[in-house]
Amino acid sequence: MEKIEIIRSDLLELSKPLVLVGLMGAGKTAIGKRLALRLNLPFTDVDQEIEMAAGCTVVDFFEKYGEAEFRHGERRVLSRLLCEGAGILATGGGAFMDAGTRTEILGQGISIWLKADIETLWKRVCRRETRPLLKTSSPRQTLSQLLVKRYPVYAGADITVISKDSSLESTVDDVLANVAAILDERRHGQ
Ligand code: S3P
Repeated sequence: MEKIEIIRSDLLELSKPLVLVGLMGAGKTAIGKRLALRLNLPFTDVDQEIEMAAGCTVVDFFEKYGEAEFRHGERRVLSRLLCEGAGILATGGGAFMDAGTRTEILGQGISIWLKADIETLWKRVCRRETRPLLKTSSPRQTLSQLLVKRYPVYAGADITVISKDSSLESTVDDVLANVAAILDERRHGQ
């Protein structure tokens, strides 16, 4: 069997999703969609699910109800998605920071931290107005403060992969190689 087919059938058998975590701009959605195509598994963007459930954008949600309410909704939506079995989930950058959500992700899924440096992240987020947490007087500084605070927590994910700026497909290859290794370890009970 080919590597991709082994990963796919292991994930289906374990009924576990791959859960992408990492800071805004790490490429969770872009990599997630490509992973889903390669593995022929469904892709879900958690922020989009929250937007659909709430009937408004994440920016509007933060404005209307605040961050604490958003985290609450995020946790509820993720709890549901984590039970849906094999698939690819792209989480919002704060999801893994919530202790309860993190415990559920670690218990139910295989978590992958897409790690990127501040230049890469900033280049990807600076032209968009879709991130409520970056609506500050110095968004780049805010992003780098989030990086300092969050990276030690993201490091608790099952797998860490560097999100390269050069090629999405080679980052996808790295993710697949790491997932294959972890599944292999689990299969052999290590
Ligand atoms: C957030 C990241 C966003 C979104 C919300 C909060 C965060 O998702 O969930 O704005 O706390 O880092 P992306 O990481 O997909 O931008």
